[in-house]
Amino acid sequence: MCSIFGIIIKQKTETTPIESTLTALKMLEYRGYDSAGIASKGDKALQIWKTQNKDNKAEGVDMLRKQMTEMGVISFPTQIVIGHTRWATHGEISQKNAHPHSSQDGNFAIVHNGIIENYIELKEFLRSKGYYSVSDTDTEVLVNLIEYRWNETGRISFEVAVRQAVSEIEGAFAIAVITSSEDKMIVASRSGGLFVGITAYGFVIASDQSALVAHTKDCFEVESDCLVVLTPEKYEKRTIVSNQEVVPDIKKIELEISQIQKNGYEYFMQKEIFEQPKTLTDALRGRVRPFEGIIKLRGIEEHLRRIVQAKKITIIGCGTSWHAGLVGEYLFEQFTRIPVEVEYASEFVHRNPILGEKDIVIAISQSGETADTLEALALAKKSRATVIGLCNVVSSKIARMAGVGVYLHVGPEISVASTKAFTGQVAVLTAIALLVGRQKGTITESDYMRHITELAELPSVVEKYLPYFDIVAKEIAYEQLHSDHALYLGRGYNFPVALEGALKLKEISYIHAEGYPAAEMKHGPIALIDEKMPVIVIAPQGDETYKKIIGNIQEIRARSGRVIAIATEGDTEIVSLVEKVIYIPRASEHLIPIIAVVPLQLIAYHNAVMKGLNPDKPRHLAKSVTV
Ligand code: F6R
Repeated sequence: MCSIFGIIIKQKTETTPIESTLTALKMLEYRGYDSAGIASKGDKALQIWKTQNKDNKAEGVDMLRKQMTEMGVISFPTQIVIGHTRWATHGEISQKNAHPHSSQDGNFAIVHNGIIENYIELKEFLRSKGYYSVSDTDTEVLVNLIEYRWNETGRISFEVAVRQAVSEIEGAFAIAVITSSEDKMIVASRSGGLFVGITAYGFVIASDQSALVAHTKDCFEVESDCLVVLTPEKYEKRTIVSNQEVVPDIKKIELEISQIQKNGYEYFMQKEIFEQPKTLTDALRGRVRPFEGIIKLRGIEEHLRRIVQAKKITIIGCGTSWHAGLVGEYLFEQFTRIPVEVEYASEFVHRNPILGEKDIVIAISQSGETADTLEALALAKKSRATVIGLCNVVSSKIARMAGVGVYLHVGPEISVASTKAFTGQVAVLTAIALLVGRQKGTITESDYMRHITELAELPSVVEKYLPYFDIVAKEIAYEQLHSDHALYLGRGYNFPVALEGALKLKEISYIHAEGYPAAEMKHGPIALIDEKMPVIVIAPQGDETYKKIIGNIQEIRARSGRVIAIATEGDTEIVSLVEKVIYIPRASEHLIPIIAVVPLQLIAYHNAVMKGLNPDKPRHLAKSVTV
C-alpha cells in the first residue's frame, strides 16, 4: 500500500538518481497507483514533480517520466532523491494530494506509507502556530510538524526535528524525508517494511526489496521504531524513542531480477498464471517426497505434536488467502478430523474469539503484510494458541510474528490479483493436512501414499492442461461473458473455488460476480437467472455431489440461464446441458481446487484484456493492504 523509493549517492552512477527512482517506482507501482511523485535536492532548494493517475489507467509513473523528460529534468544534477506511488487513504486522488509533500516553507519533503491517526489534532496544533495545509493528507501534517520542530529547536539538526516529530504521531508509518539544508536522507518506521540497500555508490531505500535488486543484494530493514540517517557515505541506525544505536542485520536479498520482470509475457498476471506448474513444484520441492513416502515441513516439525493434539484449528486470512483457508477447512476436516473454523482476519479481531493453549491458528497471507491479518495474529498470540504463518514473502511481518510456519516459495507475486499464491497456499495446506493426518492415524497408510504421489504429480498435470485452459478461457471470455453479472457455483471443495473465480472476475474485469455453494442457489440467487446470466459451474465427476450439481444445472437451464461447466474429461453427458465445457483431468476431489481455479483465473484475465483493462493494476486496489 503506497510505495517508497529513495537514493543518496556519493559518486556518479550509470543512470541518474532521478532515472533510477522512476525505474524503481514503475516496479513498485503495484503497491498503489493513484499518483506518483519525486522530490530531489538541488543546490539550494528541493524540487518536486508529481502527477495523478487519470481515468483509472494506472500509468502514473509513465506519465511522470514523460512530463519530466519533456521538462528535461531526468538528468537534473542531484545526489538525493525520494519517490512515491500512492494508494489514497486521506484525501481524494489528485495532484495536490500526491506525494512527496513539502513543508510550508519548503525546507523539507516527505514520502509516507501508513496512516497518522492523530493528524486532526496535530493539524489544529500546527494551524495555531501558523502552519496551513495545502493538501487533504495526513502526510503534509507530519512534514509541517518536522519543520515546526526544526524552527523551534533553532534549526540545529534535521535529525532531532524528525525524531521529535515522529515521536508525536500515532499510528503505523514508514517515511523518507529530505531537507534543502543538509546532504542527508532520514528514513523511519513504526511498522517495519522499509529496507536500506548498500551499494558501492551510496544507498537506496525501498518499501519492497524487489526495488533494490537492480542496485544491490545487501540490505537491512528499518524495523519498527527505528530511524536511519543516511549521508552519501554512511548510515546510522538508531531507535526513535531512546536514540540508542542499533547494529543493522545485513542480509542478502534472495531474488533474481528475472523473477520481477515480465519475461516476454504481456502482463504479470499472465506470467504468474503460467508460472504455476513451476511455483507448485517449488512449493512442494523437498517437502512432498513420494519415493520416500514422507512429507517434511521443517517450519512446523517441532510443533507437529501440538497440531496433532489440537482441539481446534482456526484459519485466518483476507481475500484470496481466506479462500485458500476455506479449502484448508475441507482438507483438515477430511484428513485430520480436527474441527476447523475459517475467519476473515478483519472480523476475527472484533469477535473476542475463544482460543486457548490447545488451539492452532493458521494465518495465511501472500504478502505477509496485510494489516488485518497481522492484527488478528497478534490477538491469537495473546491467547497462547500455537500460531502458524503461511506466507510467501520471506521474513515478512506476519512470518516473523508467527515465528512458526511454512513459506510458499512461489516467488514474487506482482500482479494485484493473486493467482499463483492461491495454488501455492492450497498445495501447502494439503501437505500439512496429509502430514498431520498420518501422524494422527486419521488417514490410512495406503491413502496417504496415494495422495502424496498424486500431490507430487500435480504440477505436471497443471502444466499439461494450461495451454488448453488458455484457449477455452479466452473463447469464454470473448463469447460468453458479455453480461454485467455472473454467478459461480461449486460444492464441497469447489465452493471456495467458485468464490475465488468470482473474486478474480470482479476485481480485474469489473463484472459483478457472486460465488455460491450450488445448492444455495434455490434459496435466493436463482431469482437472478435469466437468459443473460452466465453461470459458471464447477461440476467434476467422482464424488457424491456430481449428481446434485447436474440437478442444479438443470434448474438453471429451466430458467434459461447460460451454463459454462468445468467438468471431468470424458464426461460427454454434460455437453448437452451447457453452453460451453472446460475439461479438467480426473483427480482426487481435494486436488480439484488447484486445477479448476486455473481456467477461472484465465477467464478473468482474458476478459480484462479484451476490455482494454490492465489486469495487473485494477482500479482502487493495491497489492499489499497495509492499512
Ligand atoms: C485478490 C487478492 C486479495 C488478497 C488479500 C490478502 O486477488 O489478491 O484479495 O488475497 O488482500 O492479501 P495477502 O494474501 O497478501 O494477505
